Amino acid sequence: MSVRSLIDRPRLDQLPEWKALARHRKSMAKTSIADLFAADPRRGSKYSTEALGIHFDWSKHLVSNETMKLLFALAKASGVEGHRKAMFKGEKINITEDRAVLHTALRAPADAVIKVDGENVVPAVHDVLRRMGTFSNQIRSGKWKGHSGKAIKNIVNIGIGGSDLGPAMAYDALRKYSSRDLTIRFVSNVDANDFYEKTLDLDPTETLFIVCSKTFTTLETMTNAHTARKWILKAFDGDAAASAKHFVAVSTNADEVAKFGIDTKNMFGFWDWVGGRYSMDSAVGLSTMVALGPKGFRELLDGFHDMDEHFRSTPMTRNLPVIQALIGLWYADFWDAGTVAILPYDQYLDRFSAYLQQLEMESNGKHTRLNGKHVKWGTCPAIWGQPGTNGQHAFYQMIHQGTRLVPADFIVFADPVNKIGDHHDKLVANVFAQTEALAFGKSVAEIEAEGVPAWLAPHKEMEGNRPTSTFLCDKLTPRMLGRLIAQYEHKVFVQGSIWQINSFDQWGVELGKKMAQAMIPELKSKDRPKLAHDSSTNTLIRKYRDLRGRK
Ligand code: F6P
Repeated sequence: MSVRSLIDRPRLDQLPEWKALARHRKSMAKTSIADLFAADPRRGSKYSTEALGIHFDWSKHLVSNETMKLLFALAKASGVEGHRKAMFKGEKINITEDRAVLHTALRAPADAVIKVDGENVVPAVHDVLRRMGTFSNQIRSGKWKGHSGKAIKNIVNIGIGGSDLGPAMAYDALRKYSSRDLTIRFVSNVDANDFYEKTLDLDPTETLFIVCSKTFTTLETMTNAHTARKWILKAFDGDAAASAKHFVAVSTNADEVAKFGIDTKNMFGFWDWVGGRYSMDSAVGLSTMVALGPKGFRELLDGFHDMDEHFRSTPMTRNLPVIQALIGLWYADFWDAGTVAILPYDQYLDRFSAYLQQLEMESNGKHTRLNGKHVKWGTCPAIWGQPGTNGQHAFYQMIHQGTRLVPADFIVFADPVNKIGDHHDKLVANVFAQTEALAFGKSVAEIEAEGVPAWLAPHKEMEGNRPTSTFLCDKLTPRMLGRLIAQYEHKVFVQGSIWQINSFDQWGVELGKKMAQAMIPELKSKDRPKLAHDSSTNTLIRKYRDLRGRK
């Protein structure tokens, strides 16, 4: 499929397949999940898909055979398969930035051939991986010495957004497979409290900063990087030579790296065809590689690649990310669901939903079609969540008995990473119980039959009919984490493709960034600034200056 034909697609809501889904939605209005189960005793096994150690149970959704048939037809009519081919081939499908979208090349095997502008990018990918491997081994073995000759014990990644969330999430997720001799921290916020707390107990002579930024111009990252340099230099009485042993950079922008004062031989590069939120498997994953070692990092990449191959070559009706995407789109567009909850039942996945927030919302939170016109349909819902079981004692009340539909992804692993007593059986029981309760609920009659007085029974009523996906995965390993992340990446791709938006730019973040830059002098200046904002913003600026004792 040519990029031009992607842009020129007819309006989504005018496709006969879309209209058929809208009609079908009406016919489903009175069907409940319980009805669907009653009509088909084998639904639980039939409406599930198995691949790569992931058992995806999608039976507890408001979908029938007909729904799925229509959704697959919509994906076909939307040209998802051609779009997918164009992405894997390195065509410039990120049209607003004129870039290819090739995060899949980051995890391709060394003998793969993937071309951008006629050049095979795979050798360069593996070259960077080798350099990352050498560096990681030097840190892990204590061979890399700080300026005072001491080995490095602390790694601090400075980055934000895609240059932070992926590595920070992966470090937590794979703690069990990580070196325990190293302390690895992540500083992202421009709020000084972040830098202060993350470095408070660290010895600068044993600390190395990875300054991680695709552009190397991001306000937060550069502010933190300058503060880090001062912190290091202070420990070495201002000896500028110290920074060579205490800073490395990850970026696509060698000029800015050099300008900052990091020797580009200590820079690990990546390319403009890797989006920030798709970059944790590029050099942006340097802290992950330091933690896991090169072999563990390769396993992570192999997991991504497994899912790439599954997505690329499995028929749509058995394709995990495609099915997940279509069911999500069904709720977002035809049931008006404004959110999706991500509920991993694994404490190591504490940061997983925060990671997916950027992946999904920065990719598909858009209202402009590839052809420049405004969409006439809903796009990305809000993504949120917390690990279970904690969330059960906080916000699940609303999912069970609230007035809004919240489709949820439950993610759990069969084989526990830490086997202690019967914790894991209790954990898994909670997953299965929650999804059963959400789907089937409990009626007032059932509650009264248990002796609950009639006035109280309605308060205890559980309407059920709350849709969930369950991903029962083998075990949380580097490879499995790679598979899961790639699954969500491709889910986002499929949805963005059908919505006819560009999932790979992020213009929506620009205006606020520029306005903040312009406002900094208005807050800092010694003299009273002339303000020309709206009256609310002017008042806030004046109030802040006043509170800080400025004119
Ligand atoms: O502000 C959004 C964003 O551009 C993200 O897309 C990106 O991941 C993040 O900022 C950080 O950007 P960089 O890696 O260039 O510092």
